[in-house]
Amino acid sequence: MCGEREWGGAGGERAAGCGEKKPGSPYRVHPKSFWYYVRCALFLRPRAANLELHGKPTRQKGEVQMPIETGSFRSIFGTLPTPVAVITAVDGEGNQRGLTTNTVTALSMEPPMLLVCLDESSTTLPAILDSRFFVVNFLADSGAGISQTFAGKADDKFAGLTQRPAARAGGAPVLADDVVAHAECEVHSTLRAGDHTIVIGTVRDGAVHDRAPLMYHRRQYFRWSPPELAAIGD
Ligand SMILES: Cc1cc2nc3c(=O)[nH]c(=O)nc-3n(C[C@H](O)[C@H](O)[C@H](O)COP(=O)(O)O)c2cc1C
Repeated sequence: MCGEREWGGAGGERAAGCGEKKPGSPYRVHPKSFWYYVRCALFLRPRAANLELHGKPTRQKGEVQMPIETGSFRSIFGTLPTPVAVITAVDGEGNQRGLTTNTVTALSMEPPMLLVCLDESSTTLPAILDSRFFVVNFLADSGAGISQTFAGKADDKFAGLTQRPAARAGGAPVLADDVVAHAECEVHSTLRAGDHTIVIGTVRDGAVHDRAPLMYHRRQYFRWSPPELAAIGD
């Protein structure tokens, strides 16, 4: 259709010209007819005003669609400070597994649920899927070293850590000395998306501690320091 734009793919935006013949289209009008100009005015107007056109996104003048690279994608999310958590589970052979994440999100209040996004290559993911239980350990600001350890692939990630088995999460490790809070979860459902699996957990138990959280921003760890924050709004 006149002025309609197609999106997606490495080729980016394509515009079909007014009066351009589409195979089998009964609506083709001659480029010099009255109806040709009416049709162009009708369909080009929303494009000029940067409005939505037939539910498809429009862009600012001069903005170019580019296929996004992994580095740019990481940079987008690197601009957003997040808390850091270690997800723990026990696999079918009784081995403790765990990884660092910053993709934990609260999902539902009734019943209490959360979700986390795990890479398909994670060795912790099969342990969670097999046992159907996991613990989200939200790290305190003492936990930068723990986060680094669990972001790696060592076999002995739990060495030297104080831990106890979660009563409501199949014995998955709770890192009680190094967390601001923890949540004991039972797997509710999973969804594969891209190279990750979204794991949705029903929260069965948990606890909070009077400690400051560990923060991650632009690939660095930070201590949360509320007095330096300036509140905005009322
Ligand atoms: C701050 C931070 C956040 C991370 N977030 C995630 C995440 O949300 N999901 C994920 O699969 N990996 C994440 N990772 C990478 C994993 O921790 C890393 O791949 C780890 O080696 C996986 O361990 P595993 O294979 O033993 O499970 C993160 C790493 C860091 C440092």
